[in-house]
Amino acid sequence: MDENTLNNLRKNYQKGELLESKVNPNPFKQFDKWFEEALSSNIYEPNAMILATAADNRPSARVVLLKGFDENGFKFYTNYNSRKGKEISINPNAALLFYWMELERQIRIEGRIEKLSKEESLEYFNSRPLDSRYGALASSQSEIIPDREYLEKKFSELKEKYGDNPPMPDNWGGFILKPVLFEFWQGRPNRLHDRIVYEKKESNWNIYRLSP
Ligand SMILES: Cc1cc2nc3c(=O)[nH]c(=O)nc-3n(C[C@H](O)[C@H](O)[C@H](O)COP(=O)(O)O)c2cc1C
Repeated sequence: MDENTLNNLRKNYQKGELLESKVNPNPFKQFDKWFEEALSSNIYEPNAMILATAADNRPSARVVLLKGFDENGFKFYTNYNSRKGKEISINPNAALLFYWMELERQIRIEGRIEKLSKEESLEYFNSRPLDSRYGALASSQSEIIPDREYLEKKFSELKEKYGDNPPMPDNWGGFILKPVLFEFWQGRPNRLHDRIVYEKKESNWNIYRLSP
């Protein structure tokens, strides 16, 4: 790929604006508004978010699916022994990122992660399609495995063993990120984008604008 091709990939963003006078003073409500707009914009998996974690000064990032949010925080489910799980146990400070290109919007969220209760994880686990539950059971996420066959064999053996009732693995469950900072980014013409930040100070949210 030559650099000219990349340099010529340019878009002038003009789908919206974000003004201090119009944003909701509550960042969760502002998130909810944008999320509703993303849901009704035919975006493929608007709940896909990038989760960045860092342990030992070495950041890592991956996509996970948002499975719930309210004023307590943003929930997702995973394997607690995965790379992300281990990093979160060392350093619970993490960041989430939503990028909805169709709306020319990005949302950054930073905060601390906690484990959800076993009961809440179990409730979600049991609501998943049967084969997804087996997927979670069969996968020691982020461990090296010999080949694909190994995984598929494990999946079939577990299905044979547990039938319609696979148990939730002990090392599987939910996390919740409790935000201390949100940044809502709206693309604007001429790279003069809108960036509105909410930063938590005690129990209040300070709102300010950043230069693009
Ligand atoms: C669209 C999409 C959705 C995903 N959703 C999840 C998820 O909800 N939970 C999860 O553990 N991994 C999910 N993954 C896989 C992760 O990106 C990642 O490969 C996996 O969690 C292992 O990451 P780790 O080794 O950093 O822990 C998803 C990947 C994609 C592309």
